[in-house]
Amino acid sequence: MNKPNSIAPASGKLGVLMPGMGAVATTVIAGVEAIKAGLGQPIGSLTQMGTIRLGKRTDGRSPLIKDFVPLAGLDDLVFGGWDVFPDDAYDSAEHAGVLPKDKLEQIRDQLKKVVPMPAVFDRNYVRRLEGSNVKSMKTKWDAVLEVREDIKRFKEQNGCERLVMIWCGSTEIFMAPDPVHDTVESLEKAIRENHAAIPPSMIYAYAALQEGVPFLNGAPNLTVDVPGMIELARQNNVPIGGKDFKTGQTLMKTLLAPGLKARMLGVQGWFSTNILGNRDGEVLDDPDSFKTKEVSKLDVLEFILQPDLYPQLYGDIYHKVRINYYPPRGDEKEGWDNIDIFGWLGLPMQIKVDFLCRDSILAAPLVLDLVLFTDLAQRSGLAGIQEWLSFYFKSPMTAPDLYPEHDLFIQLMKLKNTLRFLQGEDLITHLGQEYYD
Ligand SMILES: NC(=O)c1ccc[n+]([C@@H]2O[C@H](COP(=O)([O-])OP(=O)(O)OC[C@H]3O[C@@H](n4cnc5c(N)ncnc54)[C@H](O)[C@@H]3O)[C@@H](O)[C@H]2O)c1
Repeated sequence: MNKPNSIAPASGKLGVLMPGMGAVATTVIAGVEAIKAGLGQPIGSLTQMGTIRLGKRTDGRSPLIKDFVPLAGLDDLVFGGWDVFPDDAYDSAEHAGVLPKDKLEQIRDQLKKVVPMPAVFDRNYVRRLEGSNVKSMKTKWDAVLEVREDIKRFKEQNGCERLVMIWCGSTEIFMAPDPVHDTVESLEKAIRENHAAIPPSMIYAYAALQEGVPFLNGAPNLTVDVPGMIELARQNNVPIGGKDFKTGQTLMKTLLAPGLKARMLGVQGWFSTNILGNRDGEVLDDPDSFKTKEVSKLDVLEFILQPDLYPQLYGDIYHKVRINYYPPRGDEKEGWDNIDIFGWLGLPMQIKVDFLCRDSILAAPLVLDLVLFTDLAQRSGLAGIQEWLSFYFKSPMTAPDLYPEHDLFIQLMKLKNTLRFLQGEDLITHLGQEYYD
C-alpha cells in the first residue's frame, strides 16, 4: 500500500452522529463539554493524552499524537443523533447516572441543546425497549431515505464540513450472516423487500455509507460486518470499523491473556461474570441480545491463546462468560474473573480479578478516539475496514481471510505504525540492533 500523498486538513466542524444516545453517548458529549470548559481531563483518550515515538530511541522525539497527525479539535465537534426516547442529552445523562449531578449542572446549557432525532426502531431486534421517539415509516427503504435526509439536514444546519457516525445504540438480537448480506445489490433488494435480516442498525449504516459518512459500530451487532456493507464502503471510499467497544472485563482479558501466553503458562479455565444495572444490562438480560454479546466476548481468548498452536497449554480450556442484570449497581459494573492456570510440570495456580469499573467512563474516550481517527482515515483516503483501529474493539473486523488480532499491545503497535506510515515516518520494529553495532 502506498502512503497517501497528502492528508486533507482537519478544517471546519466535524459532526458526530450517534444512533443511540444513552449512557455511553451522553458521557462522551458531557465529557467533551466538561473538558472544553476546563472542568476535567480527557483521561483514557490516546488522541488527547498519548504520545508517539518517532525515529531512534536516542532521537528524543515523542510528540503528542494530536500534534503529530492533523486531528479535529474538541472545539470543532458537533454532536447529534437518534434515540427511541425523546430525552435531550442532559436528561438522558441524568437518567444514566454516570456523571455526578453537580458536574452535569455546570454544562447543562450545552447538553440541553442536543436533542435526539426520532429513531429507526423495531422491537423485534431489541425486545426490552419501548419508546415514543420513533419514526413511523412504512418500509425499511423509507427509513433509509429518512435517515439520509436527517444526515443532510444535520450537516447543513450545523455547518459541518465532515461527519462520522458511531453506533452507541443497544445491542440487537443475535443474527447470523444471511445470504442477503452478501453483495450491495442483495442488501438493497432486502431493504426494499423489508427482509427480516435487515435490523435498524443496518439501516443507519447503509444510509451513512451512501452519504459518504464513515460508520463505526460500538455494539456487537453485525451491522457493517457483512460483505455487502464492506463492498459499499469501498465503492464509496468510506472507512468503517467495529465491533463492540473493548472496555471492562474484555480489556482486562486482552491485557492478561497475552502475558500468560508470552510466558508459556497454561490456562485450564477462565470464568468471567458481571453484575450491572444500567439500561445496557437490562437489554442484555434478554437472552437473544446476550447471545450477540456472548459471541463477541468469547472469541477473544480463542484468538489470543491459539489452542491449535499450543494444544498442551490451551487445548482444553473452559471459558464461560455471564452477564447478570442487577439494578442496584447502575452503571457501576463489577466484573469478576477466576482464571485457573498451570505452570512448570503442570502445577495449578489461580488468578482472581475483581474489577469495579464504570462502563461508560471506560467507553467514552474510546468513542472520542474512534471518531477522530476515523475522520483522519477519511481525510487520508483510507476506505473500507480500518483494522488499525482494532485497539478499540472486542471483535475487530478484518479482511475475510484474516484472523483478528486481539492482543492489546500488538493492536497499539499497529495503530501507532499506521500513524507513522500516514506521515511518512519510519515504522518502528523494536529490533534495535543498530544501538549495538
Ligand atoms: N459501556 C461500555 O463499556 C460498552 C462496552 C462495549 C459495548 N457497549 C455497547 O454500547 C452500546 C451503548 O451502551 P450504553 O451503556 O450507552 O447503553 P444505553 O442503554 O444506555 O444506551 C443505548 C441507547 O440506544 C437507544 N437505542 C436502541 N435502539 C436504537 C435505535 N434503533 N435507534 C436509536 N437509538 C436506539 C436506546 O434507547 C438507549 O438510549 C450498547 O450496545 C452496549 O452493549 C458498551
